[in-house]
Amino acid sequence: MAIHKKTSRSVRKAIIPAAGLGTRFLPATKASPKEMLVLVDKPLIQYVVEEAVASGIEEIIIVTGRGKRAIEDHFDVSFELEETLKNSGKNKILEQLRGISNSAKFCYVRQPQALGLGHAILCAAHLIGDEPVAVLLGDDLIDSETPVLSKMIDLYERFKAPVIGAHRVSMDDIHQYGVISGEPLEKRLFRVSDLIEKPAPHEAPSDIAVIGRYILTPEVLKILKKTKPGKNGEIQLTDGLKTFARSAPCYAYEIEGKRYDAGDKLGLLKATVEFGLKNPEFGKQFEDFLKSLQFHQ
Ligand code: UTP
Repeated sequence: MAIHKKTSRSVRKAIIPAAGLGTRFLPATKASPKEMLVLVDKPLIQYVVEEAVASGIEEIIIVTGRGKRAIEDHFDVSFELEETLKNSGKNKILEQLRGISNSAKFCYVRQPQALGLGHAILCAAHLIGDEPVAVLLGDDLIDSETPVLSKMIDLYERFKAPVIGAHRVSMDDIHQYGVISGEPLEKRLFRVSDLIEKPAPHEAPSDIAVIGRYILTPEVLKILKKTKPGKNGEIQLTDGLKTFARSAPCYAYEIEGKRYDAGDKLGLLKATVEFGLKNPEFGKQFEDFLKSLQFHQ
């Protein structure tokens, strides 16, 4: 699939933190990056890069760590592979490979130790300067007609304030998420007054949970720099955003589309089935195969 770029926007840079340990996916992630796990025919991180590029992002900073070199190789030019494909006339796949490395300007920073999402973002902060930045987490895969990040950039352009991606979850699952306390402004839009991390169902202020898409402003990064490590000695982005939202306008956008938790074994399996069914090449065959399985009631 070709990557469709959108023209220049006010948010030009994105950070993709990819230095986590991926413990939910062990043993698969012992020596391979979680972000390189495959969904049908592409690594997870490519889906997020495509969403960023389709939303107008021009520079992508990937935060990596030990054992994550495969990510850099994936977005780099592969000379031998390209020559081999060219010589054997495999032009379609050759174009696809070239599209990956040409889609944006990539740059990499290392997070020496997995000290939390907030810390990972701070490892890239010196490359951002005085401008807004998008943050996308590869764990959250969103299947939507218009890229979710693009809609969030529209909101940033309207309010010039941070925007948090969110979705509704059932009260049975709410304890797994950061939850938004705030006031509904219009369809799918909330003004955030507070964020509650992993509340018990009776303590949850809403059913609107934070997902891995953010537009951050330089002010949020300043606050994050001063944010003390919380649970497990990690610097949490939610803590920084919470401090910010208590004193300045901050918005949450309820995404349109289907979200998969691809950082979790069951979530990736669900996404694999749905993306497999939609595949133009073999979706129908896959559907026939699934129908042929004998499910016991
Ligand atoms: P997660 O907590 O979901 O990812 O962080 P993880 O730590 O890799 O996975 P589990 O929970 O142990 O299975 C969300 C995102 O933030 C990145 C992760 O790579 C993931 O994309 N992250 C997290 C970092 O880059 N650095 C960190 O210190 C923590």
